[in-house]
Amino acid sequence: MSGLPLHGQVAAITGGGTGVGAAAAASLARRGARLVITGRREDRLRSVADALETEVEVLAADITGPETSALVVDRAIEQFGRLDIVVHAAGIFEKRPIEETDDAFWHRTLDVNLSAVVALTRAAWPALRRSAGQVVLISSVAAVQGFSDNTAYAASKGGMNAIGEVFREEGRADGIRILTICPAQIDTELWDGKAPDSVRGRMMRSSGVGEVVASLTASDRSIDFAPVTIRPPSNPWLAEV
Ligand SMILES: NC(=O)c1ccc[n+]([C@@H]2O[C@H](COP(=O)([O-])OP(=O)(O)OC[C@H]3O[C@@H](n4cnc5c(N)ncnc54)[C@H](OP(=O)(O)O)[C@@H]3O)[C@@H](O)[C@H]2O)c1
Repeated sequence: MSGLPLHGQVAAITGGGTGVGAAAAASLARRGARLVITGRREDRLRSVADALETEVEVLAADITGPETSALVVDRAIEQFGRLDIVVHAAGIFEKRPIEETDDAFWHRTLDVNLSAVVALTRAAWPALRRSAGQVVLISSVAAVQGFSDNTAYAASKGGMNAIGEVFREEGRADGIRILTICPAQIDTELWDGKAPDSVRGRMMRSSGVGEVVASLTASDRSIDFAPVTIRPPSNPWLAEV
């Protein structure tokens, strides 16, 4: 274990019970990190934790709850004494045309996908400063590319890219590294009921995206990354010829 690149480090992962968050948990664990994983569904978190050969703390909570960010950071510090990596993978995605983007939908999307990221990063910042840690933002190509019926999600992810650049500036003096990852389509529960199996089969696998998260996180700290776009080799929505 001690030869692993993230041995001794502690990562907190939102959305850790499914999809990209669960895959990132597995990949970070393989590199030696201990984990705090959070999400609302405790059963999903427990099954991720049970499959990993590292110490894992499970914290079932809504990421938009007023106390959740502090609880996540406190759990890491109480159990492991430090926090080195925060992976923001919790997110919601629903397409709605602008005329149906009512205030409740708009605010809920921004609350989960953006405001909670600010709240957790703020809570984690003192610990990240002590560890010269890292913040991983799971953004989206939707941050920079227009897709129809996507106002709320695009705003949340565009905002994520923007705050990532601010965090990068604020963190520089303390050696905090920001990794903004902008994926195109990944085959996860996010697409349940939204894409047929044939299309999902052409999307990126979450396990591969988890490996991208962990390998960037474990990479040489003399390297900074501009926002990293990752995508499948071809557009999954275009049928093969
Ligand atoms: N799949 C894609 O094509 C794709 C592409 C680009 C970017 N992304 C981004 O990747 C991230 C991970 O998504 P995914 O694809 O892995 O889908 P996913 O499996 O649906 O993951 C989303 C996670 O967010 C958690 N979550 C949602 N609302 C929450 C809340 N209020 N409080 C706490 N946790 C909450 C969910 O857990 P609970 O429901 O248990 O709370 C779930 O584990 C998201 O930010 C998404 O925007 C995905």
